[in-house]
Amino acid sequence: MNRTLSLNEYATPEHALKYLARADGIPHRTEGEGVLLDFIPKSARRILDLGTGDGRLLALLRLDRPDARGIALDMSPTMLAAARERFRGNEQVGVIEHNLDVPLPDLGHFDVIVSSLAIHHCTDDRKRALYSEIHAALEPGGIFCNLEHVSSATGNLHARFLHALGITEADEDPSNKLTSVELQMRWLRGIGFEEVDCYWKWLELALFGGVRR
Ligand SMILES: C[S@@+](CC[C@H](N)C(=O)[O-])C[C@H]1O[C@@H](n2cnc3c(N)ncnc32)[C@H](O)[C@@H]1O
Repeated sequence: MNRTLSLNEYATPEHALKYLARADGIPHRTEGEGVLLDFIPKSARRILDLGTGDGRLLALLRLDRPDARGIALDMSPTMLAAARERFRGNEQVGVIEHNLDVPLPDLGHFDVIVSSLAIHHCTDDRKRALYSEIHAALEPGGIFCNLEHVSSATGNLHARFLHALGITEADEDPSNKLTSVELQMRWLRGIGFEEVDCYWKWLELALFGGVRR
């Protein structure tokens, strides 16, 4: 398959459902989610979740922040339906269709913007532009946390990651556009984020982000 094509498998129900079926089995992801939850203030009032899937991360955040309002954003019809089902009857959460390949719509300002395993489906140019849009959409003091699938430093480490997932190269998601955590942190610093660091990492899963001053 030609990986330079801008394809996104999540537009198909089969791919979206395949992900949802194995989402809980991704090794160590709950550790990363736990560290992310620790970084987000309990006083958070307005949270945006980019590439929300079925709303898993936003729902986790709202367990301890029941008064927080949230926006769950995704482009996959299957994921949007799952998120709408999860948040049905909850007037504090809005589910919005948007493709991250184009600039974010004006959704107002947020004190928290999160994303989990989604932005790596954008090209590097788009990731970088999106991080600027995220910075602009944060309130002063607002925090961005991205629990992301990043590239490995070596082919051996990549093979080790695939092995831990129990898959081979042939099973890899052709819509992955993996980028190192170091490069993405450099972009965040260049945009003006502060407190930028990698807060947690296991092989190709990394939690990184920063704060808007
Ligand atoms: C691996 S799933 C992660 C879902 C969820 N964040 C989670 O942690 O379980 C990737 C998600 O990103 C969404 N996604 C991928 N590319 C996107 C794009 N260009 N615009 C919006 N959402 C996108 C997919 O539809 C899917 O819901």
